[in-house]
Amino acid sequence: MPFGLVGSRKLAIFATLCAAQAFAKTCTLKPLGHGKSDVSQIEAAISECGHGGTTVFQPGEYNITRKMHWDLVNSRVDLHGSLNFVFDLPYWMDPASTYRVIFIQSQASWFVISGHDFTLDAHGTGGIVGNGQRWWSWYGNATRLDGDGRPVSLTLSNVTRGTVKDFTVQAPPFWCNAVADSRDVVYDGMKCVAENADETWFGQNIVWNTDGIDTYRSDNITMVNWDITSGDDCLAIKGNSTNIFASNITCRGGTGIAFGSLGQYADLPDYVENVVLEDITLIRPDPQVQPLLEHGVYFKSWTGTRIGFPPTGGGAGGGRVSGVIARNVRVDQVTTPIQLYQTNLGHPGDAPSKLQFINLTFENWTGTAQSSTIVDLECSPAAPCADLTFRDINVTVPSGEAPAYTCVNVASAAGLPSGACTGEGAVKM
Ligand SMILES: *[C@@H]1O[C@H](CO)[C@@H](O)[C@H](O)[C@H]1NC(C)=O
Ligand SMILES: *[C@@H]1O[C@H](CO)[C@@H](O)[C@H](O)[C@H]1NC(C)=O
Ligand SMILES: *[C@@H]1O[C@H](CO)[C@@H](O)[C@H](O)[C@H]1NC(C)=O
Ligand SMILES: *[C@@H]1O[C@H](CO)[C@@H](O)[C@H](O)[C@H]1NC(C)=O
Ligand SMILES: *[C@@H]1O[C@H](CO)[C@@H](O)[C@H](O)[C@H]1NC(C)=O
Ligand SMILES: *[C@@H]1O[C@H](CO)[C@@H](O)[C@H](O)[C@H]1NC(C)=O
Ligand SMILES: *[C@@H]1O[C@H](CO)[C@@H](O)[C@H](O)[C@H]1NC(C)=O
Ligand SMILES: *[C@@H]1O[C@H](CO)[C@@H](O)[C@H](O)[C@H]1NC(C)=O
Ligand SMILES: *[C@@H]1O[C@H](CO)[C@@H](O)[C@H](O)[C@H]1NC(C)=O
Repeated sequence: MPFGLVGSRKLAIFATLCAAQAFAKTCTLKPLGHGKSDVSQIEAAISECGHGGTTVFQPGEYNITRKMHWDLVNSRVDLHGSLNFVFDLPYWMDPASTYRVIFIQSQASWFVISGHDFTLDAHGTGGIVGNGQRWWSWYGNATRLDGDGRPVSLTLSNVTRGTVKDFTVQAPPFWCNAVADSRDVVYDGMKCVAENADETWFGQNIVWNTDGIDTYRSDNITMVNWDITSGDDCLAIKGNSTNIFASNITCRGGTGIAFGSLGQYADLPDYVENVVLEDITLIRPDPQVQPLLEHGVYFKSWTGTRIGFPPTGGGAGGGRVSGVIARNVRVDQVTTPIQLYQTNLGHPGDAPSKLQFINLTFENWTGTAQSSTIVDLECSPAAPCADLTFRDINVTVPSGEAPAYTCVNVASAAGLPSGACTGEGAVKM
């Protein structure tokens, strides 16, 4: 049929034109090898194809010897290989060697992506090699401070409509991911592996600060299909994170899913609104490798007294966390499944925090806890927690008895088991 033939030929030509328009250019890279740095060839490819083009990294390890910033606009990156950030601790700790685009705690980044309407797909084979083991062992008995310059592995800053897919960060020295000043971002498939293999430190947590992600000043961030092995927060929802959706998240070890710390900056209130966490599994690893699995979900604010200044000190910040749902959560030998405290880094005699937690819902929790208290809420007298809902919380405790709930300064809560939170002086309802 001539008509059909012409039609399909037209379609084919049209499709070719569209493809040609959408991906005008393709830049293809392979690792240089021979002890050469790959940064210059990567920068050249991103500058040629990062706006309106496709950049393809063939498999292999790319030698990353200095900080990189990719601005991606209407563009695609296929990262089949790994970006290997060389271990050179004194070099990376020099402030000139990293970017400081994350405002909170002036955190450092060695790799920043900005821009809009892009996809970075690592196809389950690519990502970042952070050489973290040598960082962790170095800091095994050294002091770690917030903002000391240890670099975040993958930072999205000032991104709109960006997607990161099937990406692995092997051995992040510090936070695995950060997303700041961004919106409409999807992370689909993220694996972070901070797992100590140095037997000097077996039985201790030397992978502090290897958070799976910190979200800050960002809106509409989706995280699905994550697998995080960490010695710190699996996810950390920090100030001005709104409309955050996390689903199918496995956390192995660490401190749990955190809201906070909040209220560190006295002059900058933190608002966190509408966060849905669902299908979450928290697994306790071999204690020789990672001794902590502290929480399922926990909430923390600084006190109402400012002592010192960020990045390491601070406090007295206000704000509000509202509209949190944590449902379908399975915990495995977690220390305390649900906890809230407003005395982070506080001192006796500090004024109470004015940051308020309201409308938090916990639904369909199963598994096991190591302590008898499965819900421990220590809200501030200056901003009592309100509108808490518990539904189908079935976490078993070692004694086999009814699990305990603690509530301090909780103004209203529904679904508490009868007799829970009625301890003397504990509840104000
Ligand atoms: C990476 O590049 C630097 C600078 O050229 C070189 O000293 C180093 O040996 C390279 N590393 C690898 C693994 O090729
Ligand atoms: C953020 O990105 C937009 C374009 O996507 C740009 O116009 C703006 O200058 C950037 N802002 C900052 C602070 O870099
Ligand atoms: C750190 O601790 C390890 C193991 O205990 C020890 O071998 C090393 O000398 C210590 N390093 C410093 C700088 O104290
Ligand atoms: C949230 O981000 C996703 C991914 O970019 C987008 O499809 C969706 O429209 C955004 N939602 C809103 C309400 O803007
Ligand atoms: C959940 O995420 C893991 C990767 O962490 C993936 O292998 C698995 O297929 C996902 N499950 C579902 C139901 O999508
Ligand atoms: C959060 O957003 C509010 C405005 O909605 C602003 O006043 C506040 O300073 C922001 N806080 C931070 C930490 O950026
Ligand atoms: C409580 O939070 C949920 C989830 O964000 C939201 O859908 C609901 O409207 C909130 N309820 C009130 C009374 O604000
Ligand atoms: C409860 O959560 C588990 C996962 O932990 C899930 O398999 C189950 O379907 C959930 N039940 C309901 C009623 O949603
Ligand atoms: C709670 O969990 C235990 C162990 O998983 C199970 O035997 C029990 O039936 C569950 N109870 C309810 C009320 O779902």
